[in-house]
Amino acid sequence: MLSIKNLSKSFKQNKVLDGISIDINLGEFVVIVGSSGCGKSTLLRIISGLESLDAGEIVSDDLLINELEPKDRNISMVFQNYALYPHKSVFDNIAFPLQIKNTPKAMIEEKILEISQKLSIEELLKRKPKELSGGQRQRVALARALVKEPKIFLLDEPLSNLDAKLRIQMRKELLDLKKECKGKASFIYVTHDQVEALTLADKILVLDKGTIQQYGDPYTIYHQPANVFVATFIGNPATNIIEANDKLIGIRPEYFSTSPKTADDLVFELDIFNIENLGNEILIHGLYKEKINICAKLNANELLDKDTKEIKLYVSQNLLYYFNKQTGLKI
Ligand SMILES: Nc1ncnc2c1ncn2[C@@H]1O[C@H](COP(=O)(O)OP(=O)(O)O)[C@@H](O)[C@H]1O
Ligand SMILES: [Mg+2]
Repeated sequence: MLSIKNLSKSFKQNKVLDGISIDINLGEFVVIVGSSGCGKSTLLRIISGLESLDAGEIVSDDLLINELEPKDRNISMVFQNYALYPHKSVFDNIAFPLQIKNTPKAMIEEKILEISQKLSIEELLKRKPKELSGGQRQRVALARALVKEPKIFLLDEPLSNLDAKLRIQMRKELLDLKKECKGKASFIYVTHDQVEALTLADKILVLDKGTIQQYGDPYTIYHQPANVFVATFIGNPATNIIEANDKLIGIRPEYFSTSPKTADDLVFELDIFNIENLGNEILIHGLYKEKINICAKLNANELLDKDTKEIKLYVSQNLLYYFNKQTGLKI
């Protein structure tokens, strides 16, 4: 439905996006993750038409849309800072995309009523943005994007300014919205919150330094990381990377256990230098062979002696990742 082909973009000498190619199917929810400055917002802005591209193609429904004005692209964007018009009421903020398309007044009112009920903002329609909480502003920004009934929603870290509790609530609402839009619209959603990425996404796009590191469903991204970057970027705490003679071995902290599962489990004897208590789980930070940092996540009841300085941990070999030492690519 949306096809991005070999897209590149530089700001002066700074190559921000380098040969990005992805296909997004109708109804899919794609989440983009990557470190700050890796080009996530730039990619969204190019898709929406707010930023030009240097090379490549953006094709929507078999139509090349590179050159189209933002308003002609059938795309809605929601920004991290909401970007509401401060002097307009909530109603007029939401109505604006319809007003500029000369939608009849009665139809605008009907649509706004429907959407504001869906997002529980009916009571707020007469207020100005400054009279709203962060969560309410975010809902208004979403409503403004929804009212256009676009084919593609672009959301750039829409929940990052909300507190933790509200984020969880909005995440649930986004999941409902995703279900409702199934088969009608696609989403491209930028976040740096891994839980958001793993729970919302049909597909995750991992970007680093302007190039695609991996594009796939959350299960594949988590369990079959394509390279060291993806293995260490996705998952918290990060995957341990241990240098062996001819390759790199990756072990997720949660793959360690205090008892062996099979006869040929790998064994790690750690000198513990820190134990973090997370409630039902604990993180053990230790040194292996006196120099390799290892983090292991265990169930709290697996470590009875909280003052212990040494521990023997086991990992099944079938859980290990192997990476090429030179390229970092999965073997
Ligand atoms: N308008 C611009 N002019 C010059 N450099 C820019 C502009 N917009 C973004 N950049 C640079 O491009 C890089 C990627 O930015 P951005 O896409 O905002 O990253 P992200 O959203 O992943 O944090 C950064 O190095 C940023 O400084
Ligand atoms: Mg950004």
